[in-house]
Amino acid sequence: MTATPAIDARSLGRRYGDVAAVADVSFTVGRGEFFALLGPNGAGKTTTVHMLTTLVVPTTGRASVMGHDVVAAPAEVRNTLGMVFQEPALDDRLTARENLEIHAVLYGVPRRERAQRVVRALEWATLTEAAGRRVRTFSGGMKRRLELARALMHDPSVLFLDEPTLGLDPQGRRHLWERLEALRREGMTVLMTTHYLHEAEACDRVAIIDDGRVVALGKPADLVAEHPDATDLEDVFIALTGHQLRDEEATPRALMKGFAKRGGELTR
Ligand SMILES: Nc1ncnc2c1ncn2[C@@H]1O[C@H](COP(=O)(O)OP(=O)(O)OP(=O)(O)O)[C@@H](O)[C@H]1O
Ligand SMILES: [Mg+2]
Repeated sequence: MTATPAIDARSLGRRYGDVAAVADVSFTVGRGEFFALLGPNGAGKTTTVHMLTTLVVPTTGRASVMGHDVVAAPAEVRNTLGMVFQEPALDDRLTARENLEIHAVLYGVPRRERAQRVVRALEWATLTEAAGRRVRTFSGGMKRRLELARALMHDPSVLFLDEPTLGLDPQGRRHLWERLEALRREGMTVLMTTHYLHEAEACDRVAIIDDGRVVALGKPADLVAEHPDATDLEDVFIALTGHQLRDEEATPRALMKGFAKRGGELTR
């Protein structure tokens, strides 16, 4: 018998009034897999992650995380996952150490283990020397590493990262990726959303989502191979969505391809 997948999403949908934030999204993520949701702004990535992490209730479909249904067993789901939000979620008036201590209490880390886990998390994030500084004084990369270390403090089985490297400079992005690669070697399951081609290409499998639907799903190399004119995932993305990737990542070539795809229309 095969183990239940770490994440199983089946025809998930979420409406807000007349707006379908997510129309119909299905995928599974195996244990130990690095999986990316790649999609343009407003595609429904965050809403999908929020449904899987019990923050938003689906209006259609169902999903489970480590075998626990997100609607029927939300407490079990929350215990099993760690989360880094798209929007920064640290208290920047507090120090790095204080932010971690609060999280340890909230997630029920036993009192006698807390101090040691905080030390370990700070070391893991290479923030030991900055532990006593207020988070307000941190760079974007330091804050992101702290959020990642915090998400790991209660030993989750699955990590959800909503645009983990958004707004980081190349050095900050690389440093964070080193931490993610370390988790990968340890067998962590990760679902991340990203606009960055290189991050998606570094994952085991990718779902490209557009307008609340999965338009492609598979290993990055297979997706490229399935599209005869594509030389990389960016080509596949542009062919399927008509959007270019995020500006910082877009090359002049991608800009021109996106422009041609849109029939020379400049307004999108
Ligand atoms: N609470 C809400 N009320 C109304 N509409 C919403 C709500 N949350 C999301 N939406 C809409 O649903 C769609 C999907 O939003 P979502 O944030 O999931 O996209 P995303 O792929 O994460 O985008 P981005 O790349 O900009 O983060 C958007 O059109 C958004 O405006
Ligand atoms: Mg989002």
